[in-house]
Amino acid sequence: MMKRFLMTMVAVMTLTMGWGQVVTPQACEQSIVMPKETGRYLWLPIEEKAPEGKVQVIVSGMLQMEQNVRMAREQVEYYVALDLQPYQGKGELRVCVQNVPTGSVCYKKLAQNDDADFALIDEKFRPLYHHTPKRGWMNDPNGMFYKDGVWNLYYQYNPYGSMWGNMHWGHSSSTDLIHWKDEGVALAPDVWGTMFSGSCIVDNGGVVAMYTASRPTPFGGDVQGQCIAFSNDGGKTFSKYEGNPVLTAEDKDFRDPRPFWNEDIKAWNLILAVGQEMRIYSSSDLKEWKHESSFGKEYGNHGGVWECPDLMKIGEKWVLICNINPGGPFGGSATQYFVGQFDGHKFTCESKPEVTKWLDYGKDHYATVSFYNAPDNRRTVLAWMSNWQYANQVPTMQFRSANSIARDLGLFTCGEETYVSVTPSKEMLAMRGAKLKAPTEACEIVIDVKKQAEIVLSNAKGEQVTMTYDGQKQTFSVDRTKSGEVSFSADFPCVTEAPTYGTIKQLRIFIDRCSIEAFDADGKMAMTNLVFPSEPYNNIKVKGGKVTIYEIKY
Ligand code: FRU
Repeated sequence: MMKRFLMTMVAVMTLTMGWGQVVTPQACEQSIVMPKETGRYLWLPIEEKAPEGKVQVIVSGMLQMEQNVRMAREQVEYYVALDLQPYQGKGELRVCVQNVPTGSVCYKKLAQNDDADFALIDEKFRPLYHHTPKRGWMNDPNGMFYKDGVWNLYYQYNPYGSMWGNMHWGHSSSTDLIHWKDEGVALAPDVWGTMFSGSCIVDNGGVVAMYTASRPTPFGGDVQGQCIAFSNDGGKTFSKYEGNPVLTAEDKDFRDPRPFWNEDIKAWNLILAVGQEMRIYSSSDLKEWKHESSFGKEYGNHGGVWECPDLMKIGEKWVLICNINPGGPFGGSATQYFVGQFDGHKFTCESKPEVTKWLDYGKDHYATVSFYNAPDNRRTVLAWMSNWQYANQVPTMQFRSANSIARDLGLFTCGEETYVSVTPSKEMLAMRGAKLKAPTEACEIVIDVKKQAEIVLSNAKGEQVTMTYDGQKQTFSVDRTKSGEVSFSADFPCVTEAPTYGTIKQLRIFIDRCSIEAFDADGKMAMTNLVFPSEPYNNIKVKGGKVTIYEIKY
């Protein structure tokens, strides 16, 4: 009760002291009076080692928004856009910069124009057929749904820098799961906080997003509450519900809602991550939620915080997806899952508590969740291809992070246990182009395996990745210790190893500049790893298998 009261107080204080607050010119350390020049975008120069300053937009003396921005002090590394369009023509427009010293280089290097591609850097590690934000930081995929032939993908997004912060929901759409159209920002921070992860549902032609609003309290720590927003234009724009937040609690790490319609109980269910458990709720209207049960105590891996859940029926079973950070099999972030039954009230795991199952055995596979309403009852998922151990340090600049290729989930059994199978979505087959003699920066390598196989990818710089399938031990491994740039984090160079739950007949390996996604074509093994070679691997040596390389038509 006390926390709930505090949360309300914090919001009330913010309403009166923060957004919409009166900002006098004197309260502005560095004031940029607009428009001196014209143009929709004010380009802010960034330097990542600089501490965060505050950039505020003020219209006729009233604060409209503020963001934390690493304004360049000594050297400009790249630019981010402050889109002024929503504020132009509404009164005297001022942009204030706080906590950035007067002599900083950013003030001389500001630019304003209409060119959305201004100073865009052509980066060598930008994937060619994976989804990435054009500029800025991305983590978890959010709110994914399919409707009227369009796959919608939202994502944790910082438009104001390539490191985590200022969480928004970015939005992209696709008709083939490969080519993504940038749809801009769907949800921006508000009085309840920044926009953390969540999900969308489709109902009666409308779309409802449920997400976590997270904000620091003046007393330390964060307050997290679950909110909803409605869209009547297929997810392009959302109106936030005035009764937000719809679900609050006293718990720390209370986030990442995943609602879904459950025909068995003719009601909405919600699965939510809370600390190291998953809470299950039910509702008739998505606003009032009843706590039904909790799952997780003593089950599976508890090496870190449980995040980004999903709960879905596959065949006759239910699968509970639980992303966990840290605690992954090779350190940091990873996706575990549980197989069992769910009756709309309680999830019952069919394995013994000590059994841990991982969806992907690479180091760069996190926050995996499925598309709502996918056609043909498909369970199609995307992962964020990074790891919290080093996600903010990977050697890209103007953008950070990509999503995995789309994968479809199914089930298979091995011994007494049922596991989730992972195969590249069928859309990937349509991307296969001409056969190639050697690997390129964007290709699919297919290996028809005999008993054992060793595959070495390398370039003229002596950088290499070794993949080993051991048919006897029934394991598959990827060694990226000599893969190229590895020194940006001590946690990056590593060997990842997966059980193959039987023999592998065919391996499918997808290369896209800075990623290697390896699959057993039958779905019993998936492994996703980043690599940063100084030039593409254009050489392959295969022992114990027949290799075919396909160009990927992106
Ligand atoms: C997972 C996560 C979520 C949270 C989001 C914040 O990567 O920590 O639990 O909602 O990222 O960006």
